[in-house]
Amino acid sequence: MEPLKIALLGGGTVGSAFYRLVQERQEDLAALGFAPRFLGVLVRERGKPRPLPEELLRTEPFDLLEADVVVEALGGVEVPLGLVLPALKAGIPLITANKALLAEAWEGLRPFAEEGLIYHEASVMAGTPALSFLETLRGSELVELHGILNGTTLYILQEMEKGRIYGEALAEAQRLGYAEADPTLDVAGIDAAHKLTLLARLLVDPGFPFAQVETRGIQGLTPKALKEAGARGERVRLLASLYGEEGRWRARVAPVRLPQEHPLARAQGNALWVRSVPLGEVLVAGPGAGGGATASGLFADLLRFLSGAPGHLPASGKKAPPSEGTPFPEVE
Ligand SMILES: NC(=O)c1ccc[n+]([C@@H]2O[C@H](COP(=O)([O-])OP(=O)(O)OC[C@H]3O[C@@H](n4cnc5c(N)ncnc54)[C@H](OP(=O)(O)O)[C@@H]3O)[C@@H](O)[C@H]2O)c1
Repeated sequence: MEPLKIALLGGGTVGSAFYRLVQERQEDLAALGFAPRFLGVLVRERGKPRPLPEELLRTEPFDLLEADVVVEALGGVEVPLGLVLPALKAGIPLITANKALLAEAWEGLRPFAEEGLIYHEASVMAGTPALSFLETLRGSELVELHGILNGTTLYILQEMEKGRIYGEALAEAQRLGYAEADPTLDVAGIDAAHKLTLLARLLVDPGFPFAQVETRGIQGLTPKALKEAGARGERVRLLASLYGEEGRWRARVAPVRLPQEHPLARAQGNALWVRSVPLGEVLVAGPGAGGGATASGLFADLLRFLSGAPGHLPASGKKAPPSEGTPFPEVE
């Protein structure tokens, strides 16, 4: 049995769930010939209660160059970037759930992604296959892609459909732990824009800039706007869309009006709907957050790495956009 040395960055919701899943799935790793061993788990505060062995906790960065694989579930951009770059430069693969890191620090990370060193299924729709789904879609030409990629805003919109005002729905989401104390990343559409950037790079342009995603959130929406949409047989959703317009790929996150019978309007969780030629229309839907769901995506990447498959490779070059896009209308 070969030892598999794992450096885990982050021991919060996702990191702790990943640690637990590795313990529970030891047999699957053994079947591949590996015995996992955690070198350490980086956290900020040692004293916080968490389901991790005390002796593994590190509050100072430790030597990642000892690791066979680095798993990152810290969040943020600069801190994780500073930690993972030396390991990537040494050829050590990275498995990450951090969409902000990938979206915003692409310049430094892209060469390693192109080498197949970066695995990030969990960064979009947690363990629900989004990236591997799009990898298979490479067999067709993309016409348009639309996704509900943020569960917090979906919950708030569903509550507003019941008549709650935005502030009340947000407070309830925070009480239930769906929204952070500072909800800006979610409600302003930034989290969805991070994820859309990663999808665009995978499918249509390996250098797609995060800054090119036009982003509008749900803060200005009123129950009246949602009610009026309902009366017209429509539903308002924060949609991340990629489509052709005037000879270029347009990436947009915005509250839009969807026909009620559209599969995205009916989705109760995260969902990604794609139209491509010759494949046609395809939908993948499922959980987009939660410790276990996200750890499942990280663990799938660990299995992918151990089986010898490369990480998630960006598109091989810029793809020509389709001549016509059919975006859903934005809510005024
Ligand atoms: N939660 C989800 O459902 C979900 C889903 C998909 C993707 N993700 C992504 O997964 C990542 C982690 O999310 P999470 O929900 O697990 O966050 P979290 O619960 O806040 O955990 C973050 C962990 O990183 C540690 N940490 C953060 N900054 C640090 C620093 N500067 N130095 C040392 N340790 C530091 C924290 O330490 P302390 O515990 O001591 O504070 C904590 O253990 C994020 O990139 C997030 O976007 C999360």
